Amino acid sequence: MIVRRFLLLLACLILAGTVLGPWAMAQSQAVRDDSDVIATLTKEFEGAFPQNSAPQGGVREFEMVAAPAVWGIVPPYRTDVWAYNQQIPGPVFRITLGETLKVRLTNRLQQPTTIHWHGVRVPNAMDGVPGVTQPPVQSGESFIYQFTPKDTGTFWFHPHVNTAEQVERGLHGVLIVEDPGEPRYSRDLVLVLDDWLLGPDGAIRDRFVTRHDLAHDGRWGNVPTVNGRLQPSLSVRAGERVRIRIVNVANGRVFAPLFPGLSPQVIAVDGMLTAAPFPLQRFNLAPGNRIDLDLIIPDTAQGAVLPIVDTYTRNRFTLAALLVEPGPAVETPRFKPPQAAHFPDWGRAADAPVSHEYLFDAVRGGPYGISWRINGRAWPEGTETELESGRFHRLRLTNESHRLHPMHLHGQFFRLIARDGKPVDERFWRDTVLIGPEESVDIGLVPLDKGLWANHCHILEHAEAGMMSVVRVN
Ligand code: C2O
Ligand code: CU
Repeated sequence: MIVRRFLLLLACLILAGTVLGPWAMAQSQAVRDDSDVIATLTKEFEGAFPQNSAPQGGVREFEMVAAPAVWGIVPPYRTDVWAYNQQIPGPVFRITLGETLKVRLTNRLQQPTTIHWHGVRVPNAMDGVPGVTQPPVQSGESFIYQFTPKDTGTFWFHPHVNTAEQVERGLHGVLIVEDPGEPRYSRDLVLVLDDWLLGPDGAIRDRFVTRHDLAHDGRWGNVPTVNGRLQPSLSVRAGERVRIRIVNVANGRVFAPLFPGLSPQVIAVDGMLTAAPFPLQRFNLAPGNRIDLDLIIPDTAQGAVLPIVDTYTRNRFTLAALLVEPGPAVETPRFKPPQAAHFPDWGRAADAPVSHEYLFDAVRGGPYGISWRINGRAWPEGTETELESGRFHRLRLTNESHRLHPMHLHGQFFRLIARDGKPVDERFWRDTVLIGPEESVDIGLVPLDKGLWANHCHILEHAEAGMMSVVRVN
C-alpha cells in the first residue's frame, strides 16, 4: 500500500517536472527580464533630479493671510472673493534655488484651510493634505510652512480643504524657484489662467460641487481671466525675449493657449525643464498644469497688439494680449534655451511590467449624489498603494468614464510612456496628466520622496466627490 502510494507520488512528480519545468523556467526568465528592464530604467533615471535639497542658508519669510476680499474681475462689478493677501491671484513668491521658503499662513476664513505646494517636492509634513499630512488650520489660527525646494521652476499653491470652493473663490498663488545659472530673459511674465462662474450681478455663483459639475468635467465658468482680469493687456517691447510662465488654476476648464503669428518654444512643463525645447502647438493645459515658454517679440512689432487665444474648445476666445510698446526695438538676447541637464532615455519603458493599475469610474450616491471612485472606492474611504523609492515603476491609469480626468500625483514627477497601450515619447516630466474619455494612460516614475502622497483628479469637484487615493513611498 505504502509502496503503491510512493510510486504514484513519484510518477506525479516526474510528470509535474516534465510539464511544469519549462513553464516554471519561462516564468523565472520573464521575472529576470522584468527585473533587467527595471534595473536599466532605474539606472537611466539617475541624476534626472536631485534626491535632496541643498539649503544655502538664506531664509525668505512671507506672511500670507487667507481672508474674504473684494476684487474687480469684470469692472464695474465688484466681486466678493476669498484671497491670499487681498489679491487675485495671490502673491507670486520668487526665490532662488537653495533658499528656504518660510510662509506663515493665517486663516481668516470662516472655515479650516491648508496650503498645498503643487508640484514642489516638499518634506511630506509640508504637503498640506488634511488627514494625510497635517490637521487643517482652523479659522483664526496660523501655520508655518517651511521648506527648501529641490527643483527650480514654476509651481503654484492652493488650499487642500473644501478645495473646490476655496480655489474657485480665489485662493491660489505662484511659487517660482529661479536658477541663478540660467540665461537672463528680457522679461519674465506670469500668466495665471482661471475661469469664473459669475451671475449677472458679477457675484460668484455659490453652489459648489453640483450634480451637474459631477456629471461633467467639473465647474466650467463663463468668465475666463488672466491674472484675475478679463482680457488684460501685458506690455512688452519689440525684440524682447520673454519667458512666459502659464499656470492653469481653474477648477475644471482645460486651456490650450496659442500665440497666433508668433512661435513660442516650450522650455518647461509642470515646473521641470524639458529634454529640449519644442514649438508650442496644441498643448492641453489641464487644471494644475504649467508650461514655461521662450518667446521672442519680433523687432518689427512696434505698436502691435498680439492676442493670446484659447483653442481648447471650438469657441476660440482671447485670453489676453501682448501690447508691444511703440518705442524702438531692444536687442534680442542670444542664448541657447535652458534644458534638462539629464533626461533619461527610457526607450524600454513600454517593456516594463505594470506594477499598479488605477481604475476611475462614477456611481450614484454619496454626499453629492454622484461619487467619483478610484479602484471602486471614494475618498475618504480611498485605497493606499505602496511604491518603493529609488526604483522604476510603471503605473496604469484607466478611465472607465466618459469624462476628463487630469490626474495629479503629489510629491513626484512622472513621464507619460503610453496612451491606450501605444508607446508615446514625451520628452518632459509632469505632475498632472489629462486622461480623456475611456482612455488608459501609462506613466513611468522613479519615486524619490518618501511619505504619503495624495493622488487625485485635479478637476476639483471630482476630487471633492471622492476621486482621491494615497500612494505611500517607502
Ligand atoms: Cu494642486 Cu492635491 O493638488
Ligand atoms: Cu476627474
